[in-house]
Amino acid sequence: MSDPTETRLDRGRTVHGEAANAGHRVLAPDDAEVEAYLEQALHAPPPLRVEPEAAEQPDTVAVLDFGSQFAQLIARRVRELNVYSELLPHDTTMAELERRGVRAVILSGGPASVYDDGAPKADPALWSGRIPVLGICYGLQLMALDLGGEVMPSSRREYGPATVSLTQVDGLFAGLEGEQPVWMSHGDSIVRPPEGFRATAQTDSTPYAGLADPGRNLYGIQFHPEVVHTPIGRDVLRNFVVGIAGARQNWTAANLVETTVADVRERVGEGRVICALSGGVDSAVAATLVHRAIGDQLTCIYVDHGLMRKRESELLRVTFERDLGMNLVMVDARERFLRRLTGIEDPEEKRRIIGDEFIRVFEEEAAKIGQIDFLVQGTLYPDVIESTTAETKTAQKIKTHHNVGGLPADLRFQLIEPLRYLFKDEVRTVGTELGLPEPMVQRQPFPGPGLAIRIIGEVTGERLETLREADWIVIDEIKAAGLYRSLWQSFAILTPVRSVGVMGDGRTYANVVAVRAVTSDDGMTADWARLPYEVLAKISSRIVNEVPGVNRVVYDISSKPPATIEWE
Ligand code: XMP
Repeated sequence: MSDPTETRLDRGRTVHGEAANAGHRVLAPDDAEVEAYLEQALHAPPPLRVEPEAAEQPDTVAVLDFGSQFAQLIARRVRELNVYSELLPHDTTMAELERRGVRAVILSGGPASVYDDGAPKADPALWSGRIPVLGICYGLQLMALDLGGEVMPSSRREYGPATVSLTQVDGLFAGLEGEQPVWMSHGDSIVRPPEGFRATAQTDSTPYAGLADPGRNLYGIQFHPEVVHTPIGRDVLRNFVVGIAGARQNWTAANLVETTVADVRERVGEGRVICALSGGVDSAVAATLVHRAIGDQLTCIYVDHGLMRKRESELLRVTFERDLGMNLVMVDARERFLRRLTGIEDPEEKRRIIGDEFIRVFEEEAAKIGQIDFLVQGTLYPDVIESTTAETKTAQKIKTHHNVGGLPADLRFQLIEPLRYLFKDEVRTVGTELGLPEPMVQRQPFPGPGLAIRIIGEVTGERLETLREADWIVIDEIKAAGLYRSLWQSFAILTPVRSVGVMGDGRTYANVVAVRAVTSDDGMTADWARLPYEVLAKISSRIVNEVPGVNRVVYDISSKPPATIEWE
């Protein structure tokens, strides 16, 4: 990192700092890319993170991550109870948990067997009873084994729905009774509980689907309360978090806005702050929060590269400049981008050019602003924990993300990341609370290079216009059918294919537009959406009738993998 030039070139290879073969594919916030451009243009600040003092924290439930794919989900479920929850490495010590003022600890499940070499362990001080602990699946088995119980290794996993009978209907199961459907996913089983524990639930395959030692504040369940297939899951978590641990349910979007605004105000003082707006929800919410804190000390930069969807730039201007009264530098760079994209057909080349041009524009604009002390980033909680779980060596799926860590050490700015404790859906709630318009808050992810990678082949002004109109119709009809929020992404692609058609009395030879709609949790895998025929029919007929130069519409029925979501 000694040579800043080299660092910048290196990072500039892909804005996501990924290996070249991962190339263009980003998996994180939809506006990560644009923020990365600004970072580079400003020669990238270090991630200076000030952890709030324990005293300022809301009641917190720590979820210790033993590598379960559901670990994040547990934290989200707890937050849905209006109690703040954080995912921490499995080996976080009791001393650290106490320092953070944690009210309760949940041990996640995990793919390992407690008997595996190097199976993740917990600090034995957790069993002291000073903080209530709930072990889920692997977490329960670990607790049982550590405290002298017997766990039987098994070569077969029990995976899927099961019925649990609740035999102890207080504590964890207060208000619940009888037989309940639950979701199981485990290999090992407990065959003898540790001394002091009693069974609280059983299934056909195990008499110890639930265990408790209330005297020591220790609880465990073999099933997964965090997944939707366990309908009583929410009640079980509430019983633990609120009933047993006594956490206060006061963590809401409204008081989050209040505390964040106060924090930002104190931190920034008289400093100057800059933020890159991309049109995406994260940067929009981050900017609005910071603006509420420090008003005119914030300047937002939005580069209109001409590759946005219809009316998006307009919505941005109206919202931020007119309605919120922000300092907004809106750079009309449409011509510049188009000029540089002339004759370019290769997708990676398009991305490279767009990234490069973006950085140039930002550099020019940042230079006009002068002294800048802080840079606002819309980093979300999943980005932060993905970067920390790498250290825990537990998480099976590890993504590196340019927003966290690895930034070069030539330090001109500090980062402000007002969303770094939030999940995406919480960011949307905060956005709504701040009064941002629904189309901005609920917007589907949109790639940084915009429509350029949805025009297969050369990008021209005319082709952009064609795609923009077709895309507008897709979104319009998807929204009219009430499907927009259930889809990860839905959009049009302008193919380089032309086909014969007939319109009126005449033969046509015009463009083929493809429609893509996918469902997905995180963009890593995706399934093509089974859109109702009527919706597809309406989209098709409107596009052909309303968009000049298009006479045929096809629907993409490929999933990811093997296809990707974008066509380029
Ligand atoms: P793929 O096409 O790889 O897309 O299945 C996964 C997710 O990433 C988005 N995507 C991009 N986002 N710059 C971005 O900011 C890009 O170059 C880019 N390429 C793909 C895509 O829209 C989807 O959400």
